[in-house]
Amino acid sequence: MIVLHTIRDLRETLEGVRARGGVVGLVPTMGYLHEGHLSLMRRSVEECDFTVATIFVNPLQFAPGEDYDRYPRDPEGDSDKARSAGVDVLFMPPVEEMYPRPVKTTVHVDVAVGFMESAARPTHFDGVATVVAKLFAIVGPCRAYFGEKDFQQLVIVRRMAHDLSFPVEVVGCPIVREPDGLAASSRNVYLNVEQRSAATVLYRALCEGVEAIRRGERDAEQVRRVMAEVVSREPSAELDYAEVVDPETLERCDRLEGEVRLLIAVRLGDTRLLDNLGVVVPEGTATG
Ligand code: PAJ
Repeated sequence: MIVLHTIRDLRETLEGVRARGGVVGLVPTMGYLHEGHLSLMRRSVEECDFTVATIFVNPLQFAPGEDYDRYPRDPEGDSDKARSAGVDVLFMPPVEEMYPRPVKTTVHVDVAVGFMESAARPTHFDGVATVVAKLFAIVGPCRAYFGEKDFQQLVIVRRMAHDLSFPVEVVGCPIVREPDGLAASSRNVYLNVEQRSAATVLYRALCEGVEAIRRGERDAEQVRRVMAEVVSREPSAELDYAEVVDPETLERCDRLEGEVRLLIAVRLGDTRLLDNLGVVVPEGTATG
């Protein structure tokens, strides 16, 4: 594995790969790698000829007062992990390489604006879409791997790639969880022992929501209530949102049919955690 820090070096390396007819896989991350990130890298290594993983804590997607400065970083540990996953190039640009001048151009995707994550973090997805657009422009034609863990991000990136005709196939990958159901996340290190044990409430709430649908509930509002109720029983957890949405458009559901996605965000102290689960609503058992 080679580690590169400049856009120019990365472009040159990839030109060589493509000249030999190789398919490039791209795995964008902010580092502090865990099993979730590594699952994307392994999938890319399996499906592509050459895998580029990127580690860049993107200042543009953090609002003032958020955790940009204290976001966990471990470049050496990360390179060891990426190497073991079979990554060919680890791209770790400094901030001045990605944003040498004040940013005057940003990308805005008009999906779920003011709803869920974008209600809590109004400038966040513009920052994400902008840095991902830059990575797509730098890397060129590729398959790009994103986790369903950040489900809204996945939908927004897929839409951006389509709307702006990037020669990129966006691949969504399943959520990797700890044995007790907590979704792996770099931010889990912020949790103290008590919060870590309470953090299973996100997955428990999602599972109860899915269970209600399997039992015949067809009113989305009732499913939201079921999830909120589970969170309300956990004293150290504060619900931010519990929603049931269309997995393609992220629009809020009313009556449940077809495929739906349950999404939840919870605060534990200063830490905000996200999770989600997909479900296919069974046909013909409607009671709710
Ligand atoms: P980061 O939070 O580091 O996540 C990088 C990628 O790993 C994302 O696609 C995310 O969905 C995926 N991921 C994280 N936890 C996962 C888990 N438990 N299971 C499966 N996949 C998981 O998301 C970002 O960085 C940034 O916003 C980025 C896209 C890199 C743009 O800056």
